[in-house]
Order: sequence, then structure tokens, then C-alpha cells
Amino acid sequence: MRMYDIILKKRRGLELTTEEINFFVNGFNKDEIPDYQVSSLMMAIFFKGMNKRETADLTMAMAHSGDILDLSRIEGIKVDKHSTGGVGDSVTLVLAPLVASLGIPVAKMSGRGLGHTGGTIDKLETFKGFSVELDNDTFINNVNNIKIAIAGQTKSLAPADKKLYALRDVTATVDNISLIASSIMSKKIASGADAIVLDVKVGDGAFMKNLQDAKNLATEMVSIGEQLGRKTVAIISNMDQPLGFAIGNALEVKEALDTLKGNGPKDLEELVLEIGAQMVVLSEKAHSVEEAKKLLRENLTNGKALNKLKELVESQGGDSSSIYNEELLPKSKFKLIINSDREGYISKILSEDVGLLAMELGAGRKTKDSKIDLAVGIVLKKKIGDKVKKGEELATIYCNSEEAGKSVLSKLKDVIIISDVYEEYKLIYEIVK
Ligand code: URA
Repeated sequence: MRMYDIILKKRRGLELTTEEINFFVNGFNKDEIPDYQVSSLMMAIFFKGMNKRETADLTMAMAHSGDILDLSRIEGIKVDKHSTGGVGDSVTLVLAPLVASLGIPVAKMSGRGLGHTGGTIDKLETFKGFSVELDNDTFINNVNNIKIAIAGQTKSLAPADKKLYALRDVTATVDNISLIASSIMSKKIASGADAIVLDVKVGDGAFMKNLQDAKNLATEMVSIGEQLGRKTVAIISNMDQPLGFAIGNALEVKEALDTLKGNGPKDLEELVLEIGAQMVVLSEKAHSVEEAKKLLRENLTNGKALNKLKELVESQGGDSSSIYNEELLPKSKFKLIINSDREGYISKILSEDVGLLAMELGAGRKTKDSKIDLAVGIVLKKKIGDKVKKGEELATIYCNSEEAGKSVLSKLKDVIIISDVYEEYKLIYEIVK
């Protein structure tokens, strides 16, 4: 088999066989096929597309390019959750202990933040000493003992996807639905999931900027899951404003703790309950989404979910004292307040810009090797649809450099948009099964 022929075949718009897909993924993974040929194939795929079978084959080939986590020693149906990336998205911090508190196994691999989006692993490191590097036995034993473990993605998880993603990133071939869908699903399959719930974000702060693209991506991932024997459900949720009020690691942890105490922001709680209910139904612990939501709500208010987070933090060597005493969370030196200079209704909060401004304060990474400041970030005081008076507080900036804070303050004013008309904000658009 020759890579040249595979490129030519796809350039002509023909369907690649399973063997041809395995050939290029394995060859590229082993450095036997050069970057320029794979880039060329990616561009041909970008223009000519792949059908559902090819997309599923690419997913499997990338999943099998490294270790497939064997979770068979964990009893029960293992349901994983994945978000395509958002701003202020602390869903996993609330959702994982909440679902585990119902006795459902949560064996979760999570990522770090990059650019304007945050990552669960960084947020968990707010708990001093929390270890995200677990060997397979500890990971599995923790899930068996307390129903939950959250670890960082290892290098051996779908390495071909990692290489391919890096290549797509510099060859303008990222934003193709089949390539994104197979990239995400390969990591979920390699993480050993039996069933998967996807949170596909759409809007200003998301990968997918319009609803039709988000629906296409959701449908493609659900179809891959189906072909590979993993029940998959996708929730399409709005990222036209940050989720919750907080953007920044310790600030989001505080918000997650409030949510686990039953006092969280409405939108964060709504999304947690929607994703959680789908997970509970897939794990066969409830017959309907309504029944599942009832169970989840109970554990948000009776303290069981919060206690599960404490168990998780302690089992991975972290200091859990801040869970019941939020004063102990990392704090910034300075606090700057932004007030509104007019009256009206909040009509837009440009999430990507808010994420980038939080990154400028030090809350996120510019490159994957940057160090982050856990204490800094932004807390919004108003969300889309809220009425504001002149002089009323719009947001607070938490910073460790007054200069950086002031610079962010002047820019943040322009990304919180106030108009004369009230606009409703819809958080959940659709559920794709
Ligand atoms: N996230 C991924 O993991 N892969 C993509 O291709 C895009 C977003």
C-alpha cells in the first residue's frame, strides 16, 4: 500500500477502506509516513469529506494507536462525559461527584485548559496536594472503593490523535466535522467508556459558532458511538455567555462548591442536571430523565454530592479543608470592580473575549507550558437578560498584578454589552440521541 495512492483516492472523492485508514494512522503514529503526506490527506479529507463508516474507522484506528484503558474490573456501566470546551465551564467539578454519589462509577480522564477555555485538571489542583497522575491500578481501585477517580490524560491515550491534531492545527484542517468528531471520540473510546454523554457547546466562546454546525458535530459523534457499540447522547448547549458567574480556577471551584451546597448559579445547575440525568439513565439507575433529575437534586441538597467531592479530593492526596471552609481557597491580592455607565439590559457577554481576558490575568495558558495563577479571574455580577442601573456593579476582577487588572478592566467593559431591549437566553438547545 502506498500513501500516494491513498491521497489520490481521497482527492478524487472516493471512499477509503478500513485497511487504508489503519495504514495511514499506524504509519503516521510510528513516524513512517511523513507530515507532508498526512497534511495533504487531511486537506483532501477537508474538501471531500468522509462517510460515517470511514469516520468510525478513523476513530478506532486512533483509539488503538495507544493503550485502551481496561475498566472491566469496575462493576457497573461506566458512563463518561465530555465537553467540547467552554468558558467558566465547571460542570465536571459538580457533575462527577454528584453522579458518583448515586453509586454510579465515574472513571474520568480530564484535560488542562488552553487558550480561552479552562480545564478540570487545573481546577482540581486548587486543592493542595491533589494528584492527577494515577497509575491504572489506583485509578480502578479508587473507582471501586469510592465510585470516583479523576486523572489527567496520559501520553499513551490515543497518541495518533495527538500528533494528527497538532498537524491539523498548523495546516488549517481543524474545523472539519468528521475530523473533530473522530478526534474527540477516539479519546473517549480509549478511556474505556461504555456509554458517553457529550456537551457540545455552540456560540461565541465555543468551537462551533453556529447551531447547524453544532448539530452536525453532535450527530456525527452519536453516529460514531452507535457504530462502535457505545450508547452516546449529545446535549447542545449555549456558550454565548460564560457558564455560571466565575471564570478562573479557584473562583470556579468556589462556584462549584456553592452548587454542590445547593446555592449555585441557575444555568450551571441546569446544565449539570441535564447532563447528569442522561448519565444516570444510560447507567440504568433510573428509567426516565425526570426520575434521574429528582435523584440528582436530592443529593445536591442533602450534602451527599459535596461529601463525595471531599472523598475524591482526599483519596487523591488533596487537602479538602476548603470544601467546608471556602475562605481557605487561594485568594488574589487585588480586587477591581467594574460599574455600568448606563441603564438597560445585558444583551451579550462575549465569552471568548472574557476567557481571553481571564487568561491575560494569568488564569489560563497562552501556550501549553505556561504556568497558571489559580487565584485570579473574573466574576460576573450580571448575565444576559438582567436589568442594570447606571453605576451598578457588572463584574469583579481578581488579580495579583494591579497593572494587569486595570488593563483587563478597560477591555472587559467592551465585552459586556448593554442594550435597551430585554433578550431571553436559551441554555439548552437540543438533545441528540
Ligand atoms: N477537540 C479535540 O479533541 N479534537 C478536535 O479535533 C477538536 C477539538
